[in-house]
Amino acid sequence: MQNTNNIHPVFDQIINKGQKEKLLNQRAKVLWFTGLSGSGKTTLGASVEKELFNRGFLTQILDGDNVRSGINKNLKFTEEDRVENIRRIAEVTKLFLNCGVIAINCFISPTKESRDMAKSIIGKENLIEVFVSTPIEVCEQRDTKGLYAKARSGELKNFTGISSPFEIPEHPDIIVNTDELTLEESTQHILDFLLKEITP
Ligand code: ADX
Repeated sequence: MQNTNNIHPVFDQIINKGQKEKLLNQRAKVLWFTGLSGSGKTTLGASVEKELFNRGFLTQILDGDNVRSGINKNLKFTEEDRVENIRRIAEVTKLFLNCGVIAINCFISPTKESRDMAKSIIGKENLIEVFVSTPIEVCEQRDTKGLYAKARSGELKNFTGISSPFEIPEHPDIIVNTDELTLEESTQHILDFLLKEITP
């Protein structure tokens, strides 16, 4: 832990979250998608974002492949690095939240430890957990990025669901199986829950 003796936060001088939410006419929340690679997290996140944009809500998507090519480009897929990945993302998310923005996060976030940490950083009451429960057989068959094939051949180590664990979320707020529902149906299912949370 870093020494914070000489750090002097000035949170009280800054225009607060409530004032910014008022400006934006929305309640800031974090919609956090967790699920296997290829389960549909980013597709769903983008679809929800489009619907929210059309209704006048301000959002920001954060997603694994993007974040890992920028702020987290020094991190790999060991359990330790995945936790650090989620820790930094949660801190960045908190900045959006305090700015009144609705964050849409699409990360495998494979362990209870990492998801619990995100909740404690962001605040449990601010986070809506969406488990994209698409079965691994379906994700592997889709293999949109060719990563499951590489994981099976051993070329890619520590791959979630094959050689690295994915712990099923115990109490997600929403469950979506993109193998059973169309994109429109999944999006609607999420909106039914979300709109009540973000409308002032
Ligand atoms: S997390 O486990 O740390 O939450 P994150 O969501 O940031 O993962 O990144 C996952 C994305 O990285 C996947 O969608 C995939 O494109 C890519 N990726 C590359 N290597 C791996 C791996 N070993 N396991 C899982 N995803 C990987």
